[in-house]
Amino acid sequence: MNKYFYLKLSVLSVMFIYLSSCTKTETITETVTETITETVTDTIIETTIDTLHLDPVLVAQGREVFRHDTFGDEAFWSGVLHLDKAILGADNGGYGDGVSPATALAVGLKVDAEALPAEVVSLIQSGDVDLNDPATTVELLRLNSVVGIKGNFDETGDLSSIGITCALCHSTVDDSFSEGIGKRLDGYPNRDLNVGVIVSLTDNAQFLADLLHVDVPTVNTVLNGWGPGKFNAGLMVDGVATRPDGSIAANLLPAAYGLQGVNLATYTGWGDMVYWNAFVANLEMHGQGNFTDARLNDAGMFPIAVENNFANVVNSPDLITGKLPALQAYQLSLDAPTPPEGSYDVAAAERGKVLFDGPAQCATCHIAPIFTDAGFNLHTAEEIGIDDFEASRSPTGMYRTTPLRGLFARMKGGFYHDGRFATLVEVIDHYDGHFDLQLSQGDKDDLQEYLKSI
Ligand code: HEC
Ligand code: HEC
Repeated sequence: MNKYFYLKLSVLSVMFIYLSSCTKTETITETVTETITETVTDTIIETTIDTLHLDPVLVAQGREVFRHDTFGDEAFWSGVLHLDKAILGADNGGYGDGVSPATALAVGLKVDAEALPAEVVSLIQSGDVDLNDPATTVELLRLNSVVGIKGNFDETGDLSSIGITCALCHSTVDDSFSEGIGKRLDGYPNRDLNVGVIVSLTDNAQFLADLLHVDVPTVNTVLNGWGPGKFNAGLMVDGVATRPDGSIAANLLPAAYGLQGVNLATYTGWGDMVYWNAFVANLEMHGQGNFTDARLNDAGMFPIAVENNFANVVNSPDLITGKLPALQAYQLSLDAPTPPEGSYDVAAAERGKVLFDGPAQCATCHIAPIFTDAGFNLHTAEEIGIDDFEASRSPTGMYRTTPLRGLFARMKGGFYHDGRFATLVEVIDHYDGHFDLQLSQGDKDDLQEYLKSI
């Protein structure tokens, strides 16, 4: 604490000297910027730890909820969609080919290596585990090691149902054991996960077809069209599956870390993080809780929500609401990861920061340390120079300034809500054109290095 206090003091005095000095030279400016940059970074870390005062017990409860709680959504994933039977396959009392570990990994599911007992680890290492047998997946579920999927077992030890948890989409693993198997990284979006393909394993696509008023082939086309790392969260309330050009609409799974101090959540700012947690648990995961949002009572905009009374969901018992405080505490504890040393060019990033904060105008919206607007963080499509298709599906009609911390850990799948820009270079080129910034090639490179560093 003292260290940071003195650092802050020293910066203040440097700034004071700088401000009160009339002899402004290049060298002084550079020195001052450098000192501030370093200190700001230190202060960010200090702020998160020091001022949030998170209750460790609540955080631990929230971690359990985030990783393992299904909120009773088995009623949907097994009761309606029968995905437990799809995993088992016909040979094990289900239907179809079943889901082997190899298939599960291929659709982006991850395995928590820390949940595997040493015997199992050595059996996998010696090649004595059949990764092509769905029965092995059932054993992995029994060990509670498939990230985001919870298996329930009856007295005879048979898989009786599965449910999903927040970790399915918002956690990945560090691949430390092998690809797709490693330590959990909570808050990191799983950009390998093909949610649509997983849902399409259902033998009851008719349910979704009826809900959305389309036929089964359409449901399957849509589910297979989302692609890895994407999901259409609005579909369940507005039934909008395609963009105006006919392509299939889906948004990138976002990071659930680095949200401290961020006002509105989601790409289009539906509400704050706590609002969205309740929305997702009830309306996307189909858990059993209570949820109210009168904005959904708009038949023109949200026909599916109106037909299914999603504006006023009531369940007894309520398996969600009581868990919201712990879930919030856990999410607030999920700091954005720090880019590994050597993953960006430090000198270029420093030059990029000067551009970001100044001539490139980025910091007029992405304000450090939260990297979204301080306060009301929404902008019109026009302001950021893109179409308003996705914005117009939200009650806000706008886009939320994405908090950029930990950008390096979610490069896969592209940028902006639907991944329309494949690389950071494309994002920068877009802003360069839209705001007529006239950035040189060197400026663009520097900005990119800075984005990789935050
Ligand atoms: C099926 C995948 C999936 C699951 C499961 C899921 N989410 Fe999400 N989550 C998404 C997607 C996609 C978005 C982006 C929605 C949008 O803006 O279109 C999102 C957005 C969010 C955001 C907003 C992030 C931001 O940058 O503002 C938070 C917070 C969040 N989810 C938390 C949760 C929690 C908590 C759970 C469990 C209760 C959960 N999610 C379950 C896919 C999922
Ligand atoms: C007028 C406000 C505004 C300004 C100025 C602005 N941004 Fe953004 N930025 C946004 C919004 C809003 C989004 C979300 C767009 C979306 O998801 O479709 C965004 C998204 C991004 C993303 C994508 C993040 C992700 O995970 O998908 C990056 C990177 C980014 N901005 C960098 C910059 C840079 C670099 C600059 C300066 C050249 C800049 N922004 C200027 C509002 C702004």
